[in-house]
Amino acid sequence: MKEAALLQDSIEEAFREYIETWNHTAPHNLYRPVSYALAAGGKRLRPLLVLLGYQLFRDDVEKALPAAAAIEIFHNFTLLHDDIMDKADLRRGEPTVHQKFGENSAILSGDVMAFLSYRFLLKTLSEHTPKVVQLFSDTAVEVCEGQQYDMDFETRTDVSAPEYMEMIRLKTAVLLGCSLQTGALLAGAPEVSATRLYEAGISLGLAFQLRDDLLDTFGEEATFGKKIGGDITSNKKTFLLIRALEKANPAQRASLLDWMNRENFDREEKITAVRSLYEALEIKEETEAQIDRLHTTALSLLATLAVDPARRIPLETLCEGLIKRRF
Ligand code: IPE
Ligand code: IPE
Ligand code: MG
Ligand code: MG
Ligand code: MG
Repeated sequence: MKEAALLQDSIEEAFREYIETWNHTAPHNLYRPVSYALAAGGKRLRPLLVLLGYQLFRDDVEKALPAAAAIEIFHNFTLLHDDIMDKADLRRGEPTVHQKFGENSAILSGDVMAFLSYRFLLKTLSEHTPKVVQLFSDTAVEVCEGQQYDMDFETRTDVSAPEYMEMIRLKTAVLLGCSLQTGALLAGAPEVSATRLYEAGISLGLAFQLRDDLLDTFGEEATFGKKIGGDITSNKKTFLLIRALEKANPAQRASLLDWMNRENFDREEKITAVRSLYEALEIKEETEAQIDRLHTTALSLLATLAVDPARRIPLETLCEGLIKRRF
């Protein structure tokens, strides 16, 4: 059994090789943005979850590497398109793909990444592959549904917290659930364990997106690697904004709605104003508490898995580390 750090090294090593290949693959204008996106790193959380899910049941973890890579490539595809949709110009501390190579490149290189992810997934050919491909396809469809709700919500002011939780389940959490379950399925785990892992991934993923929302407003650009305040300027219906609208007194609510309705505004002025309304309403504390609850749920689901408890340690350690992440 390997520690998470060692598994992370194997993921990085695999990506170095893929990136080297894409750097030399024609047409260069299609593949260079692919290597640019994947070379920028990021946390590589999803491939790590695949390997950790596999390692709960089996030791020959290298067999799950192509599937782990597939999900990371898919994740990066969603980011290329998400950054166009969110008009984001910074990711992982570098210009986003559409900023550097243009929107058409970010669209088409994103598309090819979606298909490359299937190519990688099919490298893990075994009797388990059909189930894995089915799960992956269902998950990919759900991510698109979540992204559409995220955009639809931008122009609404009556989004409820349960609607928001369902939107982030789709756009973010299902891919974390899919990663853990893919690892388990490839390892030939019993159905009940694979499903339990998926559920743990959902709780972890909900907490992960809540933290992302919190960092988008209260984080530091230097560590987060994304421009702070993008959710505020685009009126994203984050948990923060939804709860603020619900908790606000009439004057605070009018002020929030006024900022949301302004077409011309100074970026920093709007961010500062909305952030101080959040502070007055103790939104940060409430979001932190929600994140803690979801992590507790994830950890208690992991605790019910019928595996040697020692095998769960690397995954539990990763979950605990994610609770307080700053990037
Ligand atoms: C960003 O995902 C998109 C969200 C679901 C919040 P990550 O925070 O995992 O991004 P990287 O891959 O580590 O950069
Ligand atoms: C992204 O959500 C979820 C995806 C499926 C891409 P965000 O829009 O909050 O992700 P970031 O903050 O840009 O990474
Ligand atoms: Mg988005
Ligand atoms: Mg975004
Ligand atoms: Mg975000």
